[in-house]
Amino acid sequence: MSIFKEIKPSEIVNNPFDLIGKDWALVTAKNGEGCNTMTASWGGVGIMWNKPVAFTFIRPQRYTFGLMENEDYYTLSFFDEEYRDALKFCGTKSGRDYDKVKETGLTPVYDESAPYFEEAKLVLVCKKLYAQNLNRESIIDEATVSSSYTADDFHKMYISEIVKVLVK
Ligand SMILES: Cc1cc2nc3c(=O)[nH]c(=O)nc-3n(C[C@H](O)[C@H](O)[C@H](O)COP(=O)(O)O)c2cc1C
Repeated sequence: MSIFKEIKPSEIVNNPFDLIGKDWALVTAKNGEGCNTMTASWGGVGIMWNKPVAFTFIRPQRYTFGLMENEDYYTLSFFDEEYRDALKFCGTKSGRDYDKVKETGLTPVYDESAPYFEEAKLVLVCKKLYAQNLNRESIIDEATVSSSYTADDFHKMYISEIVKVLVK
């Protein structure tokens, strides 16, 4: 039996600014028979096309990028403070070099659509609806280029339907 219970997106009590910007998320997608995960602290949640959505931004050099491109679904898992070290690891090491599940001791749950982690306090199961690369020409605030894109590594934006919300 699952230790999670499903709620509606409108029933999420956490502040999204804290959740994404301070707690951080693990973005997780299938990787063959297993999974890979990376930390993300940029993004958002809201409404688009009358659906509850998550906005996720992934740079092309991330190992996770290829998995995001291959898969229709991914998850965003949010954790309590005790997992900060695991999130730091997943935000500084690549799935090209490490099995992050093994290294962090986190427990993947292989949902039918995408994997997430048993230790999470909140999980958003996301189904990709739209993806587009950010680009130099569209940037209005020039300071953004020098602060975030000196390597020309513009994020790809994924707008994804939140198809399931799980809490403990
Ligand atoms: C706090 C924090 C937030 C991050 N947010 C993002 C993000 O929103 N998008 C992104 O592409 N990378 C972000 N990163 C960087 C990736 O998590 C990092 O490069 C990771 O090692 C990529 O793993 P992978 O190669 O296995 O995909 C963040 C890193 C940290 C520590």
